Amino acid sequence: MINSGTKITIVGGGSTWTPGILKAITKYTNSLSLKEIVLYDIDEERQAPIGEFGKLLFKELCPDVNFIHTTNKEVAYKDVDYIFCQIRTGGYKMRELDEKIPLEEGVVGQETCGSGGFAYGIRSLRDMIEMVKDIRKYSKNAWILNYTNPAAIVAYGLTRAFRDDKRILNICDQPINMITSMAKILGINEAQIQPSYFGLNHFGWFTKIYDESGEDLLPKLKKLILNGGFAPKDAEQRDKSWLDTYALVEDMVRDFPEYVPSTYVQYYLYPEYKASKLDPKYTRANEVINGRERRVFKECREAVKVGTTIGSNVVHNDAHGEMIVEIADTIHNNKNKIYIVMVENNGIIPNLPSDAIVEVACILGNRGVIPFHVGEIDTFYKGLLENQYAYEKLTVEAFEEGSYTKALQALTLNRTIVDAKKARKILDRLIEVNKGYWPELK
Ligand code: NAD
Ligand code: G6P
Ligand code: MN
Repeated sequence: MINSGTKITIVGGGSTWTPGILKAITKYTNSLSLKEIVLYDIDEERQAPIGEFGKLLFKELCPDVNFIHTTNKEVAYKDVDYIFCQIRTGGYKMRELDEKIPLEEGVVGQETCGSGGFAYGIRSLRDMIEMVKDIRKYSKNAWILNYTNPAAIVAYGLTRAFRDDKRILNICDQPINMITSMAKILGINEAQIQPSYFGLNHFGWFTKIYDESGEDLLPKLKKLILNGGFAPKDAEQRDKSWLDTYALVEDMVRDFPEYVPSTYVQYYLYPEYKASKLDPKYTRANEVINGRERRVFKECREAVKVGTTIGSNVVHNDAHGEMIVEIADTIHNNKNKIYIVMVENNGIIPNLPSDAIVEVACILGNRGVIPFHVGEIDTFYKGLLENQYAYEKLTVEAFEEGSYTKALQALTLNRTIVDAKKARKILDRLIEVNKGYWPELK
């Protein structure tokens, strides 16, 4: 904290999610004793419209907060209290390739799952490790709250690279996105829901959905899903691809009726079906480029042009911005609130490896993350998660060691591929297009 105020830096200031985070921050300026916000990006041309929007937003709503956007690391990281990180190495151009190359080879092409997530993971690791080193040069105690995907790989890689650093927290908004949908289906306020959840990031299950009275609403929710389907609540996740993704939750609940899975589990349970339904010529990256990216930058420019942010419609998913800001607030004010976040297993799920990064409900406060114990999980889930853990570990080791063999092992283990000849073909294509982003794999 600089003197009496808090400094927050958003790394990846030019992200499409930044305006939503800024709007959420405006509600917490007092609670966080906010003094300064810095947007940091390596691409000032991209960041500028969002930075100027943010400047105007804070001038209008919180004029006491100093707001700047920069490409200078020292300005960004010196005496900072909270880092909110959301970078995308290679941008949407590389996301498109992550999604399209696997689909052209007949397997799932997705931003975080399967070989797309593998390619993106190896790209993210280099920049994320550099970012943490840079931050620690200037601010030893800053909390680093990270959204950068694929968060499972990033979390595992950062934990290995910074063993003693207990102030890096990797988070994902999909559990909250799903909880808001569940609350809508159940006709209750989402704040009433206390979930039990276990898994790896983008590979987990809700096992209980308690309401305020302590009743588990999961049985009721499953019936409602089986009779009326499952649908997203926030506007962004009402794009066609997300509607299709949510719709398959019903199939997963029908096939495996014990729990309610994360939407992402479908890529591993129905890999052939998913690959057949996705279009290698028009993927989610194209939907985002033609939708969210265009809209957010247009809205930001428009607001700056007319000189006010009042009435602007830059926020597409409230839950996303609110989650990261609320987490900073619960740490800052030691509120001990419960969030589903990523944490090193260390016996939370005793029959999974202790160094796996699991995603479970945790209490968050100024002592950091206190996870709830989950206990042993049943064979089906253990089998799936052990497999995915091995894939994640081999991916990170392939990056660390520059190992082609480990990369091939990772992709062969991944349930979206399985066949080693297919894995090799995809790996060779990904190596080609990721030159300059990946270490050389030998
Ligand atoms: P985006 O491309 O719009 O934004 C990313 C920004 O990061 C760009 O402005 C880019 O210039 C900048 N950048 C790239 N490399 C950088 C570096 N090394 N240092 C600083 N800035 C850098 O992407 P987006 O769609 O807005 O997503 C941003 C990130 O947030 C992605 O990683 C995405 O997967 C992630 N995300 C995660 C969750 C989650 O649940 N964990 C939710 C939403 C988004
Ligand atoms: C959810 C996931 C994120 C992911 C995002 C994809 O919020 O939790 O991890 O990045 O969806 O969003 P997009 O709209 O870019 O496909
Ligand atoms: Mn996520």
